[in-house]
Amino acid sequence: MAVERLDSQLKEETIAHFRLAQDSYADKRWHDPLLINTLSESIYQNLSSDSRVLEVGGGSGYILRTIAEATKAKCVINCELSADVYNSQVDSKIQLVKGTALGLPFTDKCFDFVLSVDLLHHLVGKSMRNSRRNQLAALAEMSRVASDNGLILIYETCYGSELSNFLVFYASLCASKLGIDVSWLYLQKQAIVCFLTRNQIVDMVNNQGILQCLGVFHRKNALKKPLARFMSTMLRANPGTAIVISRKAR
Ligand SMILES: C[S@@+](CC[C@H](N)C(=O)[O-])C[C@H]1O[C@@H](n2cnc3c(N)ncnc32)[C@H](O)[C@@H]1O
Repeated sequence: MAVERLDSQLKEETIAHFRLAQDSYADKRWHDPLLINTLSESIYQNLSSDSRVLEVGGGSGYILRTIAEATKAKCVINCELSADVYNSQVDSKIQLVKGTALGLPFTDKCFDFVLSVDLLHHLVGKSMRNSRRNQLAALAEMSRVASDNGLILIYETCYGSELSNFLVFYASLCASKLGIDVSWLYLQKQAIVCFLTRNQIVDMVNNQGILQCLGVFHRKNALKKPLARFMSTMLRANPGTAIVISRKAR
């Protein structure tokens, strides 16, 4: 598959967004039981201290630190577009490599475990179609660098319908062009987002041909405030979090 290139202006906007938002990705976010339990029940038994682990778009490295502690893996690498923003990783064991998900700077088949956490919806292009091509290209890259029998885990915030994905993508594009935050829609300027439904992630995995889907885990978001719950149900079609695990066939 031809690898799409990130539009350079969108790329600068993404980096600028994470420069502003980096505190939101602080440690506490990573006590998500869905991810912690899935890692310990489905991933850790396949890894050892010799395993090579890659997170694409790993921010400050919180998840990689959790994985390194649990598995004793010595090689844990974070490939980040915004490497200048996250140049201080939470653990000195984590190697930070500057690069893009759309063209990972690694040779084929060199990682036993590759994961991305809330990355795909940031791989936007100027249209939904281009964004979807970027997301597919990123998954193809993750698959390329995974070893035979290697595991791939995708964790994403998901919306319930493609209509919601469409509305939120174009709303975020407009908000970004106008330089405004729309907090009731969870939109921030410079953060153009193109979410997927859980089934779209599973289809993307199955369409790679070389990946075998091993499991799908899902949780609906629990929003306490009635207005937030109403807006979420109407516009984002009951958003939730999905984890899709696959294995690269030999
Ligand atoms: C929502 S944050 C998640 C960070 C981390 N995974 C976490 O959950 O705390 C998305 C991350 O993806 C990175 N990112 C965005 N586009 C990228 C790209 N094309 N290649 C690699 N990383 C990218 C951003 O810099 C940001 O750190």
